[in-house]
This record gives sequence, C-alpha cells and structure tokens, in this order.
Amino acid sequence: MMKRSVIDILDLTLEEIEGLLDTAQDIIANPDKYARACARKKLATLFFEPSTRTRLSFEAAMYELGGSVLSVTDAASSSAAKGESVADTAKTVSCYADIIAMRHPKEGAALVAAHSAAIPVINAGDGGHCHPTQTMADLLTIRREKGAFSDLTIGLCGDLKFGRTVHSLINAMARYPGNRFVLISPEELKLPSYVKKDVLAKNGIPYTQTTSLEKAMPELDVLYMTRVQRERFFNEEDYLRLKDSYILDMQKLRTAKPDLCVMHPLPRVNEIAVEVDDDPRACYFKQVLNGKYMRMALILKLLEVEV
Ligand code: CP
Repeated sequence: MMKRSVIDILDLTLEEIEGLLDTAQDIIANPDKYARACARKKLATLFFEPSTRTRLSFEAAMYELGGSVLSVTDAASSSAAKGESVADTAKTVSCYADIIAMRHPKEGAALVAAHSAAIPVINAGDGGHCHPTQTMADLLTIRREKGAFSDLTIGLCGDLKFGRTVHSLINAMARYPGNRFVLISPEELKLPSYVKKDVLAKNGIPYTQTTSLEKAMPELDVLYMTRVQRERFFNEEDYLRLKDSYILDMQKLRTAKPDLCVMHPLPRVNEIAVEVDDDPRACYFKQVLNGKYMRMALILKLLEVEV
C-alpha cells in the first residue's frame, strides 16, 4: 500500500476533513480512549524554520496518543547544515520514525520529502506556500464557534501575499457553499493573482478587495488577522513600512458583529492589541488548542490507527 502524505489541504476530501473534525471532537470529549492509540509509534518533527505552536502541538499530540517523538528543531543542528538534501533526510528519518511532520523555508520541500520517504509526511509549512494543519485548526475553530462552514463573510487581513495560512484557508473555505471573502491588505501585500484566478474566480467565489479594515468590519462573520511576514521580505525598509498596517483594537471592534469570530494563526507581533484578548470574540488561543486535537486526528488517520 502507498503511504499517505498531506502536503496541501486539498489532499484531503471534504468527507475526510469532516471525519478528522469528528475525530478531534471525540478526542476532546474522550481523551482517555486515545491515550495509548499510538503506543510504540514515533513521530519525527523536522523543523528547518522557527516554530512554537506547530512543532509543540505535533509533539504534544503524539505524546497524548501514547507515542514518542524525535525532533530536529533547527537546520543548523542537523546534517542539512552540511548540505544533505531534503530527499536524503526523508529517506534517513524513515529508518527511525513512523511519520514525519516537516517545516521548511522552501516551497515544495515537504512534497520532495513525501516522494522520498517510506513513511507519511505532513507539511507543517513550506515557505509561503501551504500550511494545511493550521487550516485544520482553523476549520475546527470555525466549526465550534460558528457551527457551519457555509454562508459566511470571511475577512482576511494583513499579509495576504506571503501568508501561507491564508492561502490554505481560502482553498478550504472555497469548497463550501455561500461563502464570500473580503481581502484586506496594503497594495503591496495583496493576495497573489494565482489564488484569485485559480481558486476564487475558477469556483465563482465572490470577493472584494480593500485597504480599509474599518470599512470591512461591520459585514464580517470571521476576521482572520495575519502577521506581516518579515522573513519573506527582500528588504527591511519595506517590512518596517508595512508591518503595522493593521492593528485590531477595541475601538475598531465597536462596529463588529456581536458574534464575530476573531482569528489569527499566531505568532502576533502588533496585529491584535492585547486588550482584545479578553473580548469573547477573540478565538486565537482556542485555535492554538484546536490545532493539537486536529493534529492528533491526522496522525491517527495517516498511521491508519483505529480506536
Ligand atoms: N501558526 C503557526 O504556524 O505558529 P508557529 O510558527 O509558532 O508554529
């Protein structure tokens, strides 16, 4: 049997996503049932780019399933620093572990790893391309907060050019009926035209573009804030000019719907004032926790563990 990897959220069918969401909710309700599900299984977390949430939630997920973890926490501490290829790294790690979660600064690195590995590979973020498990965390959050994935007006705000979480979320939400997007960004950080053309236009998904968060606010059901991605800029001057383009605070939330769901993949820099954290509409730390449950569900699925 071919091993199954997840590189892009579109590698999962809608039915599979529903199944993962159901599993995650069952894990939340019955954690003890899963406590030994992955006994004797090993997860390798290969992180060649910084991370707090994704790496630690993958590792927490595997421990809570009764498995264990091998970890590369930065490129400098692995043989990548000596020039070893992603393909050879994946073949090597296949000798020690049962499943890989990989983050890499280069777009396509996780796909290369998946082609070479003998075990499933999960893309934990590849450059500005995709971050499917963040999207799974986002979907569980939207399901728990809004009750459904359809007929929502979703505002995406900030760095829509380099924000891989935004690209993955658009791909996911475009598959459900009745959704529309409001794309809020500075001119220089607009959503890439290939996403607009290949995902939004191709599927007849309505969207508008604006530079004003204030104007967009009253119509939104979900507001997805993002960080300006310093690490993807070619020069510091442009980053410094754009980094504080949008700062969500209580003043801006005054015109928002009472049941708005405010999300952010985190880490935040200045995009959301700390005062917003206590507002019941702030859902970004719920996203963090939901990420662990969805990663548990995905590990179970790719290792074909029945509970
Ligand atoms: N959301 C996310 O990917 O966070 P980390 O970079 O901390 O993993």
